[in-house]
Amino acid sequence: MEVYEAIKNRRSIRKYQQRVVEKEKLMKVLEAARLSPSAMNRQPYAFVVTTDHETINKISSASNQKWDTPIIIVVCAFPEEAWVRDDGEEYWKADAAVAMTYISLQACAEGLGTCWIVAFNEEKIKEILGIKPEASVVAMTPLGYPAEKKGSITNRKSIDELVHYEKW
Ligand SMILES: Cc1cc2nc3c(=O)[nH]c(=O)nc-3n(C[C@H](O)[C@H](O)[C@H](O)COP(=O)(O)O)c2cc1C
Repeated sequence: MEVYEAIKNRRSIRKYQQRVVEKEKLMKVLEAARLSPSAMNRQPYAFVVTTDHETINKISSASNQKWDTPIIIVVCAFPEEAWVRDDGEEYWKADAAVAMTYISLQACAEGLGTCWIVAFNEEKIKEILGIKPEASVVAMTPLGYPAEKKGSITNRKSIDELVHYEKW
């Protein structure tokens, strides 16, 4: 699948089949995260993958939604390891967001669904998964074969609304 096709077809999938995701597909999705760019190449992130049904239920309880999915990937960042601009602007969230984006696009190319999740209780997620105290949980995503069909994206602002050529 071409990159543009994955960009057009990727949608937030909130219903999943219980069908097992092939190990090779999971590894390609994680490899996409590994290859993602980060500020000064600090790679200040780590990923927690869970396939345990009970753990997924606990994660659901610590978020605003019920996630019935064969896999959850939790994207963590280490603010202390990430690049900080001279004026103090921090880039760890941006780095983790890029990794998450690579995950979602590669998953789409593999025929798998994802959904950004940020509505969760971070402390509870850290406790459930034994995440190091110095890490921040930036986002999570379910990963699996979709159990809902969504068309390609229509509800976006137009290019004219978004883009300024040469000067604003
Ligand atoms: C930073 C970010 C946070 C999001 N958080 C959630 C979330 O907590 N729960 C959820 O169901 N969807 C969440 N979403 C999914 C958005 O609602 C979704 O991407 C948006 O409505 C566009 O729909 P689409 O992804 O199908 O194109 C989030 C998306 C982004 C980029």
